[in-house]
Amino acid sequence: MINRKIHIAIFASGTGSNAVKIIDFFKEQKNISFSVLSNKKDAPVLEKAQSLGVETLTFTKDEFFNQEEVLNYLKSKQTNLIVLAGFLWLVPSNIIQSFPNRIINIHPALLPKFGGKGMYGMKVHQAVVEAKEKETGITIHYVDEQYDHGTVIVQEKFNVAEKDTPEDVANKIHQLEHYHYPRVVEAIINMM
Ligand code: GAR
Repeated sequence: MINRKIHIAIFASGTGSNAVKIIDFFKEQKNISFSVLSNKKDAPVLEKAQSLGVETLTFTKDEFFNQEEVLNYLKSKQTNLIVLAGFLWLVPSNIIQSFPNRIINIHPALLPKFGGKGMYGMKVHQAVVEAKEKETGITIHYVDEQYDHGTVIVQEKFNVAEKDTPEDVANKIHQLEHYHYPRVVEAIINMM
């Protein structure tokens, strides 16, 4: 149980299953609050977050990369940790520098394999199956100014069966992500 007030800002652009799992994991801990930030005004994650009583913010490319609005919002919330959960843009240096070692990302492969710009979601799983990888998994890592690059916190693996389709891989990845990401967030908060 964490007694201090903690604010976690989740950046997400997609369906938001990881965001929901993380918010749900901490639902009994009233001192932990969340916001969900997205570059996509119609991302399903926004409605899901709102239905859980979580404040949301959307922003344009220009606001994110050339203005201070997002940074100011994070500061106004006294954000302790930024969690990327299906967020596909690089994080600009004004935010990286304001939150050193306090931004984490999840990637659906064993980095450095199958990472980098353009490698996200099903594209990763298709590439894994096409490459006939014997194993794949998830990587949770600190975020720096390059795609899928910062220090690795944890990797979890599983064997890819010959008959596995990209959809099968995606399902197994999501199961691993949903179990581990909330627990890694908890461990990091506990170390703060
Ligand atoms: C997750 O599988 C995450 O690992 C991936 O996007 C998915 C988001 O799913 N992230 C990347 O590919 C980042 N390069 P969700 O919206 O259901 O949480």
